[in-house]
Amino acid sequence: MPAEDAAALIGPGAVLGMSGFTGSGYPKMVPQALAGRIAEAHARGEAFKVDVLTGASTGPELDGALARVDGIRFRLPYQGDPILREKINTGAADYLDMHLSHVAPGADQGIYGAVDTAVIELSSIRADGTLVPSSSVGNSLTWIKRARQVILEVNEWHSAALDGMHDVYDGIRRPPHGEPIPLLRPDDRIGVPHLLCDPDRIAAIVLSEAPDRNAPFSEPDDTARAIAGHVLEFLRHEVKRGRLPSSLLPLQSGVGNVANAVLAGLLDGPFDNMTSFTEVIQDGMLDLLDSGKLRVASATAFSLSPRAAADINDRMEHFRSKIILRPQEVSNHPELIRRLGCITMNGLIEADIFGNVNSTQIMGSRIQNGIGGSGDFTRNAFLSMFVTPSVAKKGAISSIVPHAAHVDHITQDVQVIVTERGLADLRGLSPKQRAPVIIENCAHPDYKPVLQDYFRRACQSSYGMQSPTLLDEALGFHDRFVKHGSMLPR
Ligand code: COA
Repeated sequence: MPAEDAAALIGPGAVLGMSGFTGSGYPKMVPQALAGRIAEAHARGEAFKVDVLTGASTGPELDGALARVDGIRFRLPYQGDPILREKINTGAADYLDMHLSHVAPGADQGIYGAVDTAVIELSSIRADGTLVPSSSVGNSLTWIKRARQVILEVNEWHSAALDGMHDVYDGIRRPPHGEPIPLLRPDDRIGVPHLLCDPDRIAAIVLSEAPDRNAPFSEPDDTARAIAGHVLEFLRHEVKRGRLPSSLLPLQSGVGNVANAVLAGLLDGPFDNMTSFTEVIQDGMLDLLDSGKLRVASATAFSLSPRAAADINDRMEHFRSKIILRPQEVSNHPELIRRLGCITMNGLIEADIFGNVNSTQIMGSRIQNGIGGSGDFTRNAFLSMFVTPSVAKKGAISSIVPHAAHVDHITQDVQVIVTERGLADLRGLSPKQRAPVIIENCAHPDYKPVLQDYFRRACQSSYGMQSPTLLDEALGFHDRFVKHGSMLPR
């Protein structure tokens, strides 16, 4: 069916469950056709908005196209599109930023309303009618199961050799009937390689050849290389102390350039026979698989540069036995993350001197992307690490602040913080002991004296001494930036 005809099956107020995760495997044709329909309705003065539920971020053809025409009323969970971000930050769209492992249980309880239409990208439909997901699994299983009708986009840009890479486990039972997920190692396959859908509910099949969004990574700069160096040195130390095996423990690495640089650093490290249990497979992970240092990568999606995407499309057969893509409720499942003992490495917006981490909201109120899987992984990690440059916006913003203006990861969950300046190992330290270590090891020299002065005075006159705080100054860094464009004292 042409995309326009399929989009005509979606009406105002519809709740849509879309495939897609970090720019991979999202439908491209139907959302653009729907955006056209919405723009026409708005031109006629008619109201037309939809609720968009996904796996995580998508791409300009979905979030961007629908946001541009003011077509999104409500969106969950993770997003990263600049137009949608602007609509959320100006209040034109509602955004529920939630843990990625929590989306499917919420959908099963009907919390986001009845799902009207699932729009799911596939790489192919097999002769027996089973459906081969494309470059992500995300929440596709959930949307197909819950939706009144299903629209499939079969995208021939994807390699046919993706068939067999996915592991769709549909055995999760909700309380009070819950049972353990039978996954013991990152390379276990516990489900089936395909999605299933009753043909009676398939309302349309649309063909596509459009590539995933795939954003290029910047080459690791000195800052990223320094951060990677500190992480590697620390991991070496942990192996020497006998706290980690020489093959490490299953790695989770977050989105972004710095996380990718750490993976690149592992290429030159002494660790072999590694595994990963993560949510996205970035360029760095493909290189590690190629080198043989990484044995297997378990995730829910790819998040690749155009170069790596073209490369893997050509060599999918080679990677098929080394990569497993699962539903995000499995890839991000807290019980599995805790039991496997993941080493987690995620980026942050800011950390405060006690180790509370803000991953999402700039100056406490403007969304950047969302928490993604960082909460699922951090709280349940064997070893939780955060990596960041010590400053943002050419030094006008310090990543280390007296008090986080928004908290996604509480101090109890955050074990290690790393900037290009150094690494703060916070394990076993009280908040008052953490502050000098974070300031000394992680803060940029321009901000170190200001932070030291703040903490010294807080230790003299705070209301309590567990987490010494000056209430009238705690958000002073942020206030200065909003008023004067820099966190540095004037
Ligand atoms: N204040 C304002 N802006 C900040 C900032 C701060 N304290 N810290 C970072 N930024 C901005 C950067 O300036 C940059 O903006 P630009 O795109 O306009 O240049 C952007 O955020 C990305 O920062 P960068 O330093 O390039 O790091 P990154 O690509 O590693 O991203 C996060 C950092 C925090 C935005 C990213 O890791 C994220 O969204 N994390 C939350 C989700 C997550 O952790 N998922 C992990 C599981 S996959």
